[in-house]
Amino acid sequence: MPEDKPTSGQRGDPAADAVRQASQKASQQASQQASQHWDPHRYNRNAGFVAELGAPLLDLLQPAKGERVLDLGCGEGALTAKIAAAGAAVVGVDSSPEQVAAAKARGLDARVMNGEALTFEAEFDAVLSNAALHWMLDPDAVLRGVAAALKPGGRFVAEMGGQGNVETITQALFASLQARGADPVKACPWYFPAPEAYQARLEAAGFAVESIALIPRPTPLPGEIGGWLETFAEAFLKQVPADEGLALIAEVAERLRPSLCDSEGRWSADYVRLRFVARLAG
Ligand code: BEZ
Repeated sequence: MPEDKPTSGQRGDPAADAVRQASQKASQQASQQASQHWDPHRYNRNAGFVAELGAPLLDLLQPAKGERVLDLGCGEGALTAKIAAAGAAVVGVDSSPEQVAAAKARGLDARVMNGEALTFEAEFDAVLSNAALHWMLDPDAVLRGVAAALKPGGRFVAEMGGQGNVETITQALFASLQARGADPVKACPWYFPAPEAYQARLEAAGFAVESIALIPRPTPLPGEIGGWLETFAEAFLKQVPADEGLALIAEVAERLRPSLCDSEGRWSADYVRLRFVARLAG
């Protein structure tokens, strides 16, 4: 279970502490995963940018013709399709049957699989993961599975939410839920590690880390913050009765407006990426 430490800036910050505590509660995993479902249409409407912004990962991955690549947390397959277009044989896995169905509809080899229980054995030259690992609250199980899936010397190239990711949004959700007597700590479904902590996990799983860094990346949203909350913060929204959901979203949006909405009404999210390249021992 992750016990990664917060940055000094986060220490004592209830929302950041809760992100960490959530990361420490593997026992909550099943219910947290059940509390987030992925609707490919809603996802495309509110989060189409996720795959677009994953382009730097492809530059790092350099998929080659004849290689076999695993896309871990492939979603509806936008990035998977780009790996296939580069000539590699790519398999996408995702825990969401709806997203996998959407990926299959693109003609991709996509399979429903829990990232914490991968079943591949020494069959991939590379594993890529974009914006998925922070939903998997047992990182050591994930890394064991990735290491097992790779051939000796295989590479693992990934980007996930890192320490401080969506902290403003998390704080607003916490404030509104606590004001309603709900317990957001229990609901928090995300793991945003610091580079040092994740590097230690990678090394313990048998990887040599070639690069790892936090990259603050405030990200313009295609619509209002409410769409982002509906798409990604379901686990928090479910802490209140269904008929209070819209009011909660509106209230959280008003808390966030001063910091995440500009004078022309354009919203952004305070993303911080953790990007790394690691290689399995040969
Ligand atoms: C992310 O990509 O960093 C992210 C997306 C949704 C919820 C939390 C984090």
